[in-house]
Amino acid sequence: MELLAPKPGERILDLGCGDGALTEKLVAVGCHVVGVDSSEAQVEAAQRRHLDARVMDGERLTFHHEFDAVFSNAALHWMRDPDAVIAGVWGALKPGGRFVGELGGYRCVEKIRTALVEALHRRRINGKAIAPWYFPTVRAYSARLRNGGFQLNYMALIPRPTPLPGDIAEWLETFAGSFLSRVPPEERNAYIAEVRDLLRPQLCDARGVWIADYTRLRFSATKPF
Ligand code: BEZ
Repeated sequence: MELLAPKPGERILDLGCGDGALTEKLVAVGCHVVGVDSSEAQVEAAQRRHLDARVMDGERLTFHHEFDAVFSNAALHWMRDPDAVIAGVWGALKPGGRFVGELGGYRCVEKIRTALVEALHRRRINGKAIAPWYFPTVRAYSARLRNGGFQLNYMALIPRPTPLPGDIAEWLETFAGSFLSRVPPEERNAYIAEVRDLLRPQLCDARGVWIADYTRLRFSATKPF
């Protein structure tokens, strides 16, 4: 939010708005905000907050030179065609508009992914290519933004070990569905328990708090006039 520096009256697109928790904060500043998300359930949750939220695929944005800024938090790493996203954002912005975001960065959840792959490997399933996430380096994402016509103002890869509100098993059930779905339903609990055992020495602290090995790529770019 600080990097975005939203001003009252600005028209802002929240790309991957989820349930609208951050969209609401932009509205509170006095911005006119449109939220888009590919999940109908998330868009409905955002609409219950009385936000202008729409179901739209981030890789197929359909806006035309109408926003002062595009903002995105914890969503871009779910979009596997970053060039299509960047092209859509470019098309959505007015000349001089800002693209400000944060996504999982290079090696985000590497320990979790390695454990998920290892526990599949023990079941003779090759899980190396399953991860549904895009976690770019500074170099790779800067190059994509520049190729997409943006001028880069700031980018940093930030380690962000993140304490989880609950057990790692809940995180796996929420975010690792593409791995879990490779295991027959009757074996899923055993698979999760095995991944949990592999991760406990690495990610669970002495108080029993699970800490996800997140990294973040944070950036600010401008569409030139
Ligand atoms: C996140 O929501 O930030 C996230 C989700 C899946 C993997 C890594 C990060």
